[in-house]
Amino acid sequence: ALPKLLTINGKEYPTSNKDTNVTQSILNLTNRNLHLNPNHPIGILRTIIETKLNSLSPYKTFNNFSPIVTKWQNFDSLGFPPTHPGRSKSDTYYINDTTLLRTHTSAHEIECFQDINDDSGHNWRGFLISADVYRRDEIDKTHYPVLYQMEGSHLWTRPRETSNMEAEIKSLQSTLNEMLINNKMTLTRCQDEVEPPTETRQDYMTEQETKLCEMHLKTTLEIVVLELCRLKNMKDVKMRWTNTTFPWTQPSWEIEIWWDNQWLEICGCGIIKQDLLLKSDFEKDSTIGWAFGLGLDRIAMLLFGIPDIRLLWSNDKRFIGQFVEGQINTFKPYSKYPGTLRDVAFWLPDILQDNEEIHENDVMEIVRDVAGDLVESVKLTDEFIHPKTHKRSLCYRINYQSMDRNITNSEINSLQEKVRNELVKKYHVELR
Ligand code: PHE
Repeated sequence: ALPKLLTINGKEYPTSNKDTNVTQSILNLTNRNLHLNPNHPIGILRTIIETKLNSLSPYKTFNNFSPIVTKWQNFDSLGFPPTHPGRSKSDTYYINDTTLLRTHTSAHEIECFQDINDDSGHNWRGFLISADVYRRDEIDKTHYPVLYQMEGSHLWTRPRETSNMEAEIKSLQSTLNEMLINNKMTLTRCQDEVEPPTETRQDYMTEQETKLCEMHLKTTLEIVVLELCRLKNMKDVKMRWTNTTFPWTQPSWEIEIWWDNQWLEICGCGIIKQDLLLKSDFEKDSTIGWAFGLGLDRIAMLLFGIPDIRLLWSNDKRFIGQFVEGQINTFKPYSKYPGTLRDVAFWLPDILQDNEEIHENDVMEIVRDVAGDLVESVKLTDEFIHPKTHKRSLCYRINYQSMDRNITNSEINSLQEKVRNELVKKYHVELR
């Protein structure tokens, strides 16, 4: 049964049967702080990007925020509508009705704006935040319930700093060109279809300011992309910018890079909406700026050649012993342990308790809580409706496989038994 209070990193939080869906195995990941480990791929990557960005402008760095935030910080303050799917219990880990594990580092934008606003002794041009973020998701080689993100933002005070924007962009462009020349690299910006902009500029910014802000943002992020490709010895870099939307930026974009024959989306970004700056106590019309959120795990997996995301969480010396501060070594696989497939099939009850559909992520969560990193993937392999009874049947195939050791048959049997029992206990399914 669910305890009345959860103690997380020394603080107590009330729970509720209706809202709490975070499990102990997820909470156990909240104090790993891979981004602070200087010899871990995530920590190495974080340091490389931070160092590059700080060579361009002074950014105040925040790397120690607790992952527990309010619903207001994570969603409302940023302008997420009440019905946004990201808020649902199938996607987000709730501690209770008002408290959750942050799903992105943007949850801290307002407090960082307020902090650099008050910290007037320094001339910070913006901030960088690195932290773990939590999302309920499927289980496979590239999905894990915890990810690392780096958030960045750059601001200009009107008119003192905006008057200098053009010169700053020129300087960024020459930094980028020097990187290309010195390393004999090329950068191609691919635009398959000419996408019309989906969002217009904000009323409080001029056309000129909007254009300059966009160029500054894009050039800064292109420098980061080039720096990573340089360290990986890639010579011909292909990337593209696509239009998108976020509730707190306008206009908004995504960066994709061409890597291993596919487009990889690595970063969302945009020009910060005035509403967010007002909530952060900036004086009306005083400030303009951009923000981005970069996913570190996928990039680390590609840079370091890590084939399974669970390896990032391994404490095995054969993994962690391979990486050193400041270097991008290619991971040398130490062994491959065999996997064992097991199916679990069940009929869904006609009407689930409290009338909720069981979500695929709920099945994933049970497997994750029972077997943790001993599972390589979970896939829905069959789904059908009985013609007479109209009952729905689902079959999931679980691949039990550890990164670090052999799992015995009896160990797998007992894990599988627990998964089956939990499905019955929690969702009242009828096992087949
Ligand atoms: N938080 C967004 C995400 O996780 C990324 C983002 C950050 C977008 C900052 C715009 C500005 O997808």
